[in-house]
Amino acid sequence: MAKAKQVYSCTACGTQTGKWNGQCGDCGAWNTLEETVVSISSKSGSLSSRFQGYAGDISVQSLTDVSPEEHKRFSIGISELDRVLGGGVVPGSVILIGGDPGIGKSTILQQALAELGKTLKPLYITGEESLQQVSMRAHRLGLDDTDIRLLSETCVEKIIATAQNEKPQVMVVDSIQTVFTELLQSAPGSVAQVRDSAAQLVRYAKQTGTVLFLVGHVTKEGALAGPRVLEHMVDTVLYFEGDSSSPYRVIRAVKNRFGAVNELGVFAMTEKGLREVNNPSAIFLSRHEEDVPGSVVMVTREGSRPMLVEVQALVAESHMSNPRRVALGVDAQRLSMLLALLDRHGGVAMYDYDVFVNIVGGMRISETGADLSVILSILSSFRDKPVPKDWIVFGEVGLAGEIRPVQNGQERLREAVKHGFTRAIIPKANAPKHAIEGIEVQAVSRLSEVLDFI
Ligand code: TYD
Ligand code: MG
Repeated sequence: MAKAKQVYSCTACGTQTGKWNGQCGDCGAWNTLEETVVSISSKSGSLSSRFQGYAGDISVQSLTDVSPEEHKRFSIGISELDRVLGGGVVPGSVILIGGDPGIGKSTILQQALAELGKTLKPLYITGEESLQQVSMRAHRLGLDDTDIRLLSETCVEKIIATAQNEKPQVMVVDSIQTVFTELLQSAPGSVAQVRDSAAQLVRYAKQTGTVLFLVGHVTKEGALAGPRVLEHMVDTVLYFEGDSSSPYRVIRAVKNRFGAVNELGVFAMTEKGLREVNNPSAIFLSRHEEDVPGSVVMVTREGSRPMLVEVQALVAESHMSNPRRVALGVDAQRLSMLLALLDRHGGVAMYDYDVFVNIVGGMRISETGADLSVILSILSSFRDKPVPKDWIVFGEVGLAGEIRPVQNGQERLREAVKHGFTRAIIPKANAPKHAIEGIEVQAVSRLSEVLDFI
């Protein structure tokens, strides 16, 4: 026997409470509690009687008895996508792909399905677009002759029933926010609906060994719409990044049970869909003719490749009681910290200046190795003195004003040399033992040293 119970769940973090509140007690978000109905089993009784009947033929194994089986992988044939996935898709794995509207989620999945369809049986389920729209996109991508099975459906029970008949080996659900389950009364897109529909699809994929791609929408704040639990339920989470004004798109693995995280795949949006960019190291530079204040180039190492990115800053006198701090592509908290460091260890106070920091090309940098370049770009804009455009800067800055090393310093330097940079300001611990031809290295160990040098 099961009885229904009313609970309120937070659309931001998925926490459930018995009582409605204006603010979620767990994550602190406002106006996010929504009413949902859950059934609870009425099985109760003493502890020992409660668990009787479960212990039938469940067997516990020794770790040494379990043979490690290499995952069988299917290469997609789009090498940048294979790279973020860790070398292809694993049967039974569930991949969630998130990103802003119009960034290319449906496009990349349609291209991937066409390639995978050569070896695995594909099924594309669309809840957002009509079959005609999907067919028009296929035409545009030059994929009209590939045989992809299509279904326009949003009820998860019907989707799974169809999949049981069709027996696809790879399935795309575009998007999970449009799917609903008949078990719940709440509207499609609500937390409970998204979570329960996803749970049913994940269970189906695991039981049948189907590769499942789920498309997820992203909220204004950049998080996946719907509960975070969606990220916990799947094996791999990929995020699309990029600026709508630039043709370049980056797919980043933020979670991957079958490969490395923070691996990047780089694409360019063209007339005929997304094309891979196999050598992306310098595409994120704006390449000014002359030196400009506020612009500093760094070498970041996202995933397994070094990449040159440009950090830009603008410092302007503020007319507000609370000066603005805007960080695009870098962490806002980190920016505040760096400004405090600049004040404390550099004697440069910014409390009556607005500070804007941007990474060119819509790129996002998650590593702390960007600290020194952010500080220098701010300082450069503040003093209106350019950092020469053939200089390269990287390094983490600690709270005591010390410059800490980054990983793979040598490799980053060599990448900079390849692109014609002639001078590098880098952490002392990253300084090469033997000089690298073509680049003069300025190794620093404290922030004050950098400021003196500049
Ligand atoms: P889409 O994959 O529909 O985005 P999402 O599913 O993430 O919302 O991509 C839509 C955008 O991509 C749209 O603005 C048009 C552009 N586009 C191209 O530039 N070239 C193409 O070949 C295709 C198919 C789309
Ligand atoms: Mg779409």
